[in-house]
Amino acid sequence: MCGIIGRVGRDEAIDSLLTGLENLEYRGYDSAGIAVQNGAGINVEKQSGKVSSLTDSIDRNDLAGRLGIGHTRWSTHGPPTDENAHPHTDSTRDVAVVHNGIIENYAEIRSRLQRAGYEFTSQTDTEVVPHLIQRNLDRGVEAETAFRRAIDELEGSYAIAAICDGEDELYAARQGSPLVVGIEGDGYFLASDVPAFLEYTDTVVYLEDGDFVTLRSNGVRITDRDGNPVRRDRHTVDWDAEEAGKGEFDHYMLKEITEQPTSLAQSIEGRYDPHTGSVTLDDLETFEGISRVLLVACGTSYHAAQYGTIALRRSGVAADAILANEFSLAAPPIDEETLVIAVTQSGETADTLTAVRQAADRGAKTLSVTNVVGSSAARETDQQLFIRAGPEIGVAATKTFSSQAVLLTLLSHRIATDTTGSSSLPIGQLCVELEQLPALVETLIEASDARSIARRYRDQESYFFIGRGFGYPVASEGALKFKEITYEHAEGFASGELKHGPLALVTPETPVFTVFTGEEDETTLANAAEATTRGAPVIAICPDGHDAIQTADAHLAIPDVNPLLSGILATIQLQLVSYHAAALLDREIDKPRNLAKSVTVE
Ligand code: M6R
Repeated sequence: MCGIIGRVGRDEAIDSLLTGLENLEYRGYDSAGIAVQNGAGINVEKQSGKVSSLTDSIDRNDLAGRLGIGHTRWSTHGPPTDENAHPHTDSTRDVAVVHNGIIENYAEIRSRLQRAGYEFTSQTDTEVVPHLIQRNLDRGVEAETAFRRAIDELEGSYAIAAICDGEDELYAARQGSPLVVGIEGDGYFLASDVPAFLEYTDTVVYLEDGDFVTLRSNGVRITDRDGNPVRRDRHTVDWDAEEAGKGEFDHYMLKEITEQPTSLAQSIEGRYDPHTGSVTLDDLETFEGISRVLLVACGTSYHAAQYGTIALRRSGVAADAILANEFSLAAPPIDEETLVIAVTQSGETADTLTAVRQAADRGAKTLSVTNVVGSSAARETDQQLFIRAGPEIGVAATKTFSSQAVLLTLLSHRIATDTTGSSSLPIGQLCVELEQLPALVETLIEASDARSIARRYRDQESYFFIGRGFGYPVASEGALKFKEITYEHAEGFASGELKHGPLALVTPETPVFTVFTGEEDETTLANAAEATTRGAPVIAICPDGHDAIQTADAHLAIPDVNPLLSGILATIQLQLVSYHAAALLDREIDKPRNLAKSVTVE
């Protein structure tokens, strides 16, 4: 949802700015641009399209300088044109600004500035910022104060960075959109996310809402809105650049699918005792006193939340999953006995953050299940459960889904035990199978027929995914992944719902991917038969030897394990189908059109 990068150091900024933009491109790729200041003016290069087009077209000599900012855009206000690309400047190019977020009162500020004679060249909300800074400079205030006063006028969410001609400082502010400082021996970075500068440093400072930061090549100063110094701890991130890179894979998505034996092992390591069946989950405090659990999430994380909801209910806990963006209008009653769990890979999804804040205001206890230490969700919730899946760069979420689902399953057992004194989950069997899970996933990926199935069913009218119980969120996730990266029409349904409407759409051109988790499989098989009767090919996702294989047109094998885990394994087969289908269609797999990895606007 837009990525911003800033660099101030003793060496030329251009290479690290471009590297940063490449590493941040997962946040948006509608346009890209950079601005560099070298004491003789600010030079800006920006254009619609990907960072690689920008890199190919710029003359680095024109962008000499040790202080600069850059931006990769996911459009909100104004289409992805050259004019709307960031950085934005004032008319004299004395000020350049990059922004991630939404300035809600920009229309009013823009009209005011236009009446005062300031000329606008873009349709963005961001362009008000350089003009506001310039107006303050025109009034004779020094650059840092001009920046602060401009920010004071803004309403909405933002991470903003600015440079001013003749100043060797970079100014930035954070309110509702992520911003992190990277500390290197020879200077500083500022970015929307750590992978932007991981090649250069792993020492970071996470900024908080309300923070202002001033970076010079020899120092960093963080203050609050009133200018009082603020202390923020330094952290060392435990991801390295190689881990965040693509390695030998063509796409991050395939790398991340293939990493699941490791990511799952990391997620569960040390969090349960296979001998006693006790679930420790780090040092999470007791959930005693909680009478109801509400999981809030979006997209893939919502499907993991649905998975967790079923596990919670099976454990004996009252639970519901709600789309975070529906929370304000459709949340059930909430009180001090409600635990609200924010399920969010990035920890920065605006919809999810808003929902969890509203829940906290109503007295709920809050917990985040997230991949990103230092994320807004982690910082704003009472407790945190980190999924430890490692960096996920592909816009399509894969390994984080399986880690979320498995940890929510363990968490269900823990919450049930804390709140009711017992849990109905078959924890003994689960623990035994969890020990085998990484190896089972590895074998599944190695032996998967997903590629040939993707080839066999290409060029169809529509793709349906069905399942029941744990198989339902898996089917929904299968369809989301498929449509997201292939751009083909795909829908996920509870298998029993097929006959209540969607069956009208089923034709011989509608492959039906059917998930069998080992629960009520005969009924799911009957639902699949309803599609077969209408000529649709059925692809059964089930263990070898399963009855469904006899009538199915094709089969994707999963190990025969407890339904709590078989859904996770089925998801991995469906991830592979989507990946190979998208590869055959030559899609931009890691950067699907119109999407961004981290959605920081509501
Ligand atoms: O970072 P989050 O888990 O909160 O993100 C939520 C969704 O935006 C995300 O899962 C999205 O649906 C994925 N791109 C789907 O692959």
